[in-house]
Order: sequence, then C-alpha cells, then structure tokens
Amino acid sequence: MKTIPLDVVYYEKIKLRAGDLRKGMFVCELDRPWAETSFPDEGFEIETDEDLEAIRKCCEFVYIDLGRTQAVRVKIEKGPTPSFIRENSTSLEDEMSTAEVAKNQTSNLVQNFLDEVRRGQNVDVQLAKTAVSQCVASILRNPDALMLMTRMRQKNSHTIQQAVNTCIYAIILGRLQGLEAKQLEELGTCGLLHDIGNIEIPNYILDKTTSLTEEEFAIVKQHTTYGRDILMSARNIFAGAAEVAYGHHESPDGSGYPRGLVDNQISLNCKIVSVVDKYEAITRHTVYRSAQNHLDAVHILNSLANNNKIDKALTCSFASYMGFYPPGTLVELSTGEVGIVLKPNPKQRLRPQLLIVRDSERNPVERFVDLGIKPFDAKGNPYKIKMVHLPGYLGIDLAQYQTALIQAYD
Ligand SMILES: [Fe+2]
Repeated sequence: MKTIPLDVVYYEKIKLRAGDLRKGMFVCELDRPWAETSFPDEGFEIETDEDLEAIRKCCEFVYIDLGRTQAVRVKIEKGPTPSFIRENSTSLEDEMSTAEVAKNQTSNLVQNFLDEVRRGQNVDVQLAKTAVSQCVASILRNPDALMLMTRMRQKNSHTIQQAVNTCIYAIILGRLQGLEAKQLEELGTCGLLHDIGNIEIPNYILDKTTSLTEEEFAIVKQHTTYGRDILMSARNIFAGAAEVAYGHHESPDGSGYPRGLVDNQISLNCKIVSVVDKYEAITRHTVYRSAQNHLDAVHILNSLANNNKIDKALTCSFASYMGFYPPGTLVELSTGEVGIVLKPNPKQRLRPQLLIVRDSERNPVERFVDLGIKPFDAKGNPYKIKMVHLPGYLGIDLAQYQTALIQAYD
C-alpha cells in the first residue's frame, strides 16, 4: 500500500524540473526508484550546490514537499496599490471593537452551523450572511482591524478559526479585485463555509498524525462533494457557496479535484478561496505539523503560483497587500529585541512601525519604534529586522497588547 505524505492534503506536493530546484527545497519523490540513486528514500532537503548537481545528474524531475520546504528567498512582486487602504473611514481604535464583535459573531455562527449540520437539520445560512456582512463593512472601513484579529490566538477550535480567517482573507483579496460589497458578502460566505464538508470525514483521518494512505486521501477529497451537498440543501444560501465548497481544490493546471477543471473553468470565487485557504493552512499550527511563518507562507504560495497550482495574479495581489510584515507579525530585531508589527511604512516596506514587547534579554517591555526613522540602534549598528517568528513565540499573545497596539497606531 502506497503512503502519501500527510501534507499533501493541504499543500499538494508539486512536480518540478530538476533545473528549477533551489536550495532549501525538500525532495519527497523522484522520477525513478530511490534504490537506483544514492539519496535517502525518506526524502531530503537540498542543502548544497553539490546536492543540486547530484539531482540534476540523475533526475529529469522530482516532487517537492512544500510543507517541509524552507523559505529560500521570498520575492513579493509589487501589485497595484489598492485604493481602499488609503481611504480608511475609521481609525483602528474605533474599528477594533466593532471588528471584534463581527469576528466573534461570525465564529459563533460557524459553531451553530456545524452543530445544526451534525444534528442533520436543514440549516439556514441567513444569520451567517449577516455576520459576514459585518466583516465586509469593517474591512471596507479599515482592513487593519480584522487583519490584526486573524493574528490573535483564539479560544475556538481550529475548524472555526480556519473558517473565520479564510472568510476575512477572502474578503480582503476580493476587495483588492474591486468587488462590490454584495459580491464580497457572497465571497466571505464562500470562505466561511468552503470546508463544511469536513464534518462528514471521520475524525480518525482528520486527526491522524502520520501519513495518509491512498484510500484515506480519497476519503478526504470527498469533503468537496459533501460540502456541496450540505450547502445545496441549506436555506437562504446562494449557489456560489456550494460551487466553492465543491471547487476550491481545483488547480489552474488541471491537477486538482474533484473534477480536474482547468483555469478558465474555475470561478473567481473558487480561485480566491483556493489562494487564501492555502495561506491560512500553511500559517496554522496543527496536531501533525508546525505552522510556517508569514514569509515562508508567501514563498510557498509563490511556488504554487509559479507551478500553476493556484492563480498567479491573485497570489501576487494577496502577497503584495500583505507585504513582508503584515500587521500583527512577530519579528526579532538585530538587537535581539522582539516586536509586533503595527503597520508598514509605504515607502520603506522592510522597515515597519513596531511595538517592542521584549528587550534583548527577553524581558517584557512596551516601546514604540518606527524603523523608518530610527535606522541605528544604541550602539550605532543598523537597526533592522533579523527574522520573523510564529504567533505565540515566547508566549507573546497579541490580545494582551490590544490597548497598546491601538494607542501606538493613532
Ligand atoms: Fe478543502
């Protein structure tokens, strides 16, 4: 029985020509039996130029496990500047409480929706649509508030957090495409409910901490069909939500499922949810793998887009909007201090404004620093970001700094 790496479920390993490989990539499968090569058959990370040369000598193409691939070099292409970012009609301070209510209501409604589906009830989507419309209104007023919310650790289950974050990211990406409020509400509902079919997948598969068998992977794939059927029988749902539940794992190159559609057969809503669903999955910690930080996630999205697994223009638009350091990102500075990104400096995208929350000795502090106007530290060395950390690093909880974050913003 052939086994499939568990990450395939979320990352879908990609096939690359040997000439396109780079250091940091994790090779999980060759175009020939492992026994015919000197490589370890459990896979390996390409670390040196010699590794690259050795692969190119014996293989025409290989498969890369993106879940275990390290960030090599993140390139964020500059997309069109979205006008709504500069036209916030509310301050972050005013928007945070409204955004928090919208997010909590949306989370509660997903929970109720799941409960009703489990009980076999004919669910009504009207309330979910109302909650999503509040998220849309908040994002149109000031997207930073809900963006920050996605970075805060939640008490909810992963399922609910995933649904709500995907909803928020989808609305933001949809807005970047110029969609109107009504379209964004529909798109947000698609993002919120796209994986509802997972409720029919046995927990022993969803919670499995080892590789899935081919048979188990085939069962997981059925969540798209289950989701479509659940939403088609729901009251007050629009047809697009069922379509996205069915089509969000399709790929422009035709390698997706369940129908193997190609680019022009996949709807815009499906393409948007596909991009943000992958970003959300990559940045989320699960029982079987660690989360990747934002920059690693962008690198993986770029790899997927360059291999025609997800829409390239949408990926570029999303990555450009998120930038190198989106609000709420935890970063470590060259001094050893750790800070929370507040907002980027538009003309210096690598030098955002920060709230420093740990000094170089890791002691708690609260200090505002604008890297755009403070290029040197106390010792006269360049003051810059050394690395990005995952949410929760050093036990740092953004929710604890909500007040400080808001005050620093304004
Ligand atoms: Fe899915």
